[in-house]
Amino acid sequence: MEKNASLYVDNQSFNLPLIVGSEGEKAIDIRKLRSETGNIAYDDGYANTGSCKSDVTFIDGENGILRYRGYSVEDLAHNASFLESAWLVINGELPKKNELEDFSGRIAINAGIHESMHRLFDGFPTNSHPMAILSALLNTLGCYYPDMTSNHRTEELKYFDKAVALLISKVRTIAAMTYRIKSGLPVNYPDPNLRYSENFLHLMFSNPHDSYPIREVVGKALDLIFLLHVDHEQNCSTSTVRMVASGGANLFASVSAGVCALWGPLHGGANMGVIQMLREIHASGDDGSSFIRNAKSGKSRLMGFGHRVYKNYDPRAKILGQYCEKVLKVLGKENDPLLSIAQNLERQALADDYFVSRKLYPNVDFYSGIILQAIGLPLNMFTVIFAIGRMPGWIAHWKEIASNPKSKIHRPRQIYTGYKHRSFVPLDQR
Ligand code: SDX
Repeated sequence: MEKNASLYVDNQSFNLPLIVGSEGEKAIDIRKLRSETGNIAYDDGYANTGSCKSDVTFIDGENGILRYRGYSVEDLAHNASFLESAWLVINGELPKKNELEDFSGRIAINAGIHESMHRLFDGFPTNSHPMAILSALLNTLGCYYPDMTSNHRTEELKYFDKAVALLISKVRTIAAMTYRIKSGLPVNYPDPNLRYSENFLHLMFSNPHDSYPIREVVGKALDLIFLLHVDHEQNCSTSTVRMVASGGANLFASVSAGVCALWGPLHGGANMGVIQMLREIHASGDDGSSFIRNAKSGKSRLMGFGHRVYKNYDPRAKILGQYCEKVLKVLGKENDPLLSIAQNLERQALADDYFVSRKLYPNVDFYSGIILQAIGLPLNMFTVIFAIGRMPGWIAHWKEIASNPKSKIHRPRQIYTGYKHRSFVPLDQR
């Protein structure tokens, strides 16, 4: 029997269908709310609103569960690579050996960018933020592949697999080139013999006369960070990608918009904010207590803490927190003061009723920055790392929209609170 929700408005009763997801999540289907009741729903920030049905990722925020296509992020972190997880979220299944080899091969051969794109970097001021360059160049990249950016979905979907390999490979190249060129360093060319994350470190840090010394733990740490960022339901940037895709825009334009949304300090920019916060605390000589006081009084935010969905420990933060010490030890940075400050902040916050009562726990950004800094990545590249990791998720969500002939353009309504109608006032009477 179909279950309904009953709604009473102006002494009238309305039945609204209930939708139940594969993990038992329930939703009231309000698609006919306005036509039947004359009312719209209001949900500032969409905290209670499902914008779509999706098969890609599941989060149980109350229990700290995250799964990509049904596989727990813990299992993937311990057994899979970033590229395996990328294939999984995009194609819905873990790749078979031959599929992974073919995918890795196509990513390796797609690592370079058109030589004429090299000149585009010169147009950006030296102090341009890498996220500004990344969003611009991802959209520009699409100009080199008109078949993939025709904005005709059936046409574009014919080239989808090619576009996937292009974007996942070249986002890494563009990111590293941005760092090298803006730092006045010679550009490195991709090494097809290196695995995805190690190739990124080579692109970032090798020099003409000495290649970057690849250390297994460091390459694995970066691969793990990419893997843990692959997808996360309808977060701000993924919802942006879906919003742009819903109008029929191509994949390159959609992920370029996703980069812009991710840049915000409340979202992907938080990993930079965490390090800035830890450095500030370290410089002040404080153990974090006064910073906690300021965060509780609303003067500042404990960056890397809290989450719209997780009301328990973010499983990604748990994994990264455990991996932190391992990476720092290999790098001979086990005494990094920022790690001990972070661990002390976590201990204090998780024992403080302000955070406990609001269910504020460390999120993915709390420890990722410490690892990225230990690897030697510059602070303004941290959110770029997040974007590289999130690229497969954005692609998967674009495909969910592009391959659904019934998908509708996203066009929310609003509650108008401005002036009622008023007569025009000529200039000489104002
Ligand atoms: C990411 O959505 C995703 O999935 C995102 C992400 C992904 O993978 O895509 O997980 C990645 O963006 C992680 C979040 C990174 N951002 C930060 O670490 C920035 C610090 N965190 C916050 O600004 C905040 O927690 C948000 C933005 C993450 C969530 O904000 P909400 O859900 O809108 O919660 P809120 O601002 O309404 O806060 C509720 C209460 C408020 O206090 P009261 O008004 O009840 O007194 O909690 C307080 C807030 O002041 N609060 C914090 C806090 N976060 C919330 N107080 C101090 N420090 C914080 N970090």
